[in-house]
Amino acid sequence: MEVLIQSSTAAAVELVAEIIAREVQASPRPVLGLATGRTMESVYARLVKMHHAERLDFSGCRTFNLDEYAGLPGADNHSYRHYMNRLLFHQVNIDLRNTHLPQGDAPDLAAECERYERLIHEAGGIDLQLLGIGQSGHIGFNEPPSEATSRTRLVMLAPETVRQNAPLFGADKMPSQAITMGVGTILASKKCLLLATGESKADIVSRAIEGPVTTAVPASALQLHPHCTVVLDEAAASALTGAPRKRFD
Ligand code: GLP
Repeated sequence: MEVLIQSSTAAAVELVAEIIAREVQASPRPVLGLATGRTMESVYARLVKMHHAERLDFSGCRTFNLDEYAGLPGADNHSYRHYMNRLLFHQVNIDLRNTHLPQGDAPDLAAECERYERLIHEAGGIDLQLLGIGQSGHIGFNEPPSEATSRTRLVMLAPETVRQNAPLFGADKMPSQAITMGVGTILASKKCLLLATGESKADIVSRAIEGPVTTAVPASALQLHPHCTVVLDEAAASALTGAPRKRFD
């Protein structure tokens, strides 16, 4: 695990956007795994800028998002499909048919999970998986306890996650379930890239990076990945004690 600590949130976001841009340019048909959440909003804003100012070309990209709320159609403005369309897909030259999220309102959610795994497999697997981390230690919506071998499935959201994300739903009720890639699905990606910023993530980041690998902190499974990069700002890194860390800038 490579831990890169940046002096500011903006620098951390910039580094993550650059790593993604490099992946987009590395092959004619890159497969990106994408993430949602507040942390990623500025990453996508930066990628959109790179598209306009530096002609970063998304036309060959195929994308798979980590997760989607169960029961929400893509057209619902709280869905992650809506988030991705608004913040990235509608703003760059990606073919929408090559962008994938689990379908939250599929009639048979178990079949939808299998279909999603199959699609990833048929695309040849994910080249670079972008990840955030939830206060519960989740990656995607893999709440504790989540096995390192878990695959795409329907999950119940942890109370902590509901507390964290409910404000985004305003007066509307937040779903209590989601479809998420499993920890095993994530670990099967060729590379993983986790971004965490802000003091509120410091404690869970240190448990994920420096603590034991345990199903109680699903993000700790990333320690098992052969090519995982963690990008932090100083605040998110503030509880780390001795993990191998590299300082940039
Ligand atoms: C949601 C997503 C996660 C993401 C997390 C972090 O719960 N399902 O994939 O890591 O948010 O959210 P934020 O960036 O808002 O802290």
